[in-house]
Amino acid sequence: MPTLQFKGKNIIWNHHMSVPYHTLEKDDTLGFQEDKANGNLLVEGDNLTALKALLPEFGGRVKCIYIDPPYNTGEEHWVYNDNVSSPVLREWIGKEVGKDDLTKHDKWLCMMTPRLKLLNELLKPDDGVIFISIDDNEQANLKLLCDEIFGEESFVATIPWRKRTAKSDVPFGVSQDIEWILCYAKPNFFAGQKLERKYYYTDDFPGEGWRLSDLTTLKTPEERPNSAFDMVDPKTGKVYPYSEKRVWGVTKETFDEYYQKGKIVFPDDYDFLNITKPAYRVFESEDKAKALKKYGTEEAIRAVSTLLPKEVGMTKDGNKEITELFGSKVFDNAKPYTLIKYLLSFSTKDGDIILDSFAGSGTTGHAVMELNKEDGGNRRFILVQMPENSDKEPDKNICRDITRERLVRAIKKYGYESGFEYWRVGQPLDAQTLLEGQLPPYNPFAKYVYFLATGKHLADEKGIDAKHYFVGTYGNEDIYLIYDDDMATLQTLALNYDKAEAMRSRSGQKKIIAYAPACFLDEEMLSEMKIEFVSIPYSLFERKSGA
Ligand SMILES: C[S@@+](CC[C@H](N)C(=O)[O-])C[C@H]1O[C@@H](n2cnc3c(N)ncnc32)[C@H](O)[C@@H]1O
Repeated sequence: MPTLQFKGKNIIWNHHMSVPYHTLEKDDTLGFQEDKANGNLLVEGDNLTALKALLPEFGGRVKCIYIDPPYNTGEEHWVYNDNVSSPVLREWIGKEVGKDDLTKHDKWLCMMTPRLKLLNELLKPDDGVIFISIDDNEQANLKLLCDEIFGEESFVATIPWRKRTAKSDVPFGVSQDIEWILCYAKPNFFAGQKLERKYYYTDDFPGEGWRLSDLTTLKTPEERPNSAFDMVDPKTGKVYPYSEKRVWGVTKETFDEYYQKGKIVFPDDYDFLNITKPAYRVFESEDKAKALKKYGTEEAIRAVSTLLPKEVGMTKDGNKEITELFGSKVFDNAKPYTLIKYLLSFSTKDGDIILDSFAGSGTTGHAVMELNKEDGGNRRFILVQMPENSDKEPDKNICRDITRERLVRAIKKYGYESGFEYWRVGQPLDAQTLLEGQLPPYNPFAKYVYFLATGKHLADEKGIDAKHYFVGTYGNEDIYLIYDDDMATLQTLALNYDKAEAMRSRSGQKKIIAYAPACFLDEEMLSEMKIEFVSIPYSLFERKSGA
């Protein structure tokens, strides 16, 4: 498979692994109707750290990702800002990426790579799907990068989206009216929709349903001379001439054969039929056999077309929505929510988690709420947006004043029975931060420790018992964390005999994994008590073998 080379690729390729996990801290003052949030989250922060922070809880659980990253047009004023230790990449940090920047594609690809890798880890491994909006500036590069990250076999389609009608003042006189939506999916993703077909049940075919299908084909008599004949109903003698634009789909010879088999229906055959020319009869059993062969199910399926329906709207519709909600166009080029709603309509169902890590004006959240309202579903959204200042309104912080505000206004305007929690990316959970004395609260650290120990997210957060250092159970193992977010207290904590005894009596026969700053028990005692000790913070990045 051809792969794309770009400056910094070898440095960046595994960068997502060294990005430290961070805490996610809930801001109760910025959530909205939290009693109706049902898991909806707006996360304020850089999406690189935010996605990594979401990983312990949401890794492998997201059904659908939609992202609309900066397109690298040279006009977005985006800045490469990732904390990479390489001197080559450090030179790029903090400088705006403009049109004439000779490394603009390299920078953009270095920015996208670790984010796409984390997004891939968040997707459901069996049937997750990702849609990425992009225009001609980076489409070709992105396609090759995605082939490498998601796998060429996961490529579904490049869906064209018409964003506007033609402009006249454009270079070369060609108006680029199309943007693309790259789609990649895991092996069991299926977008096709079940087709409700109406069958007739009549006495002449007992126990067998049938439907009608067109008996003509879009060919002229010159192209298909053998199918250009006048069809005669053998029962009534009525003649049905061929059409000059569409001849019959059968030849004279095959007509006779099909008629004998009952495959041709004439207008006079049944009183309840309202047809004016002969039609083709398709039996229900034929449809089922065909569907079974093609899709492994007897249900008839209609494929989703890459030709998007008109109702998905264009950029002007997204702008109009923003203007109506805010009274002015506070955000440029918001996607119409109808576009994202359409993508979600064929890719998600009740209960699915939908993620947008370049949330902008929050269109994806709006689309999720609208679709839920329409079909009674219970999908959840996770949006991530950087708290940067808006170009258009420099006094506005995009995440708080635009993304959050858009969601609130949409909920009120459309009467959605919905709400969301507001989270912020907090401090890094790495050795350096701990050693510097910045200690995370017990619960986020406990959740993270559980993820380190098991590779799974802790579903029952309520079960965390900080007083007894209990984090959670995984199979036949109990995980404990001897920890306190007060440095003076932490320095006094260790796994000693009393604590080990208390854990042992709580955990019965289960194996114990105990994270603690120090251990006063020797190897023999630990083994006798079936306790595995893991030192914090130095072993923070070591996943238990086999977990
Ligand atoms: C093209 S806009 C998305 C527009 C969105 N689809 C809508 O309909 O409103 C891209 C957004 O991603 C945000 N963004 C860019 N880099 C980011 C990062 N590293 N972390 C989080 N957000 C980021 C920008 O602030 C901007 O709001």
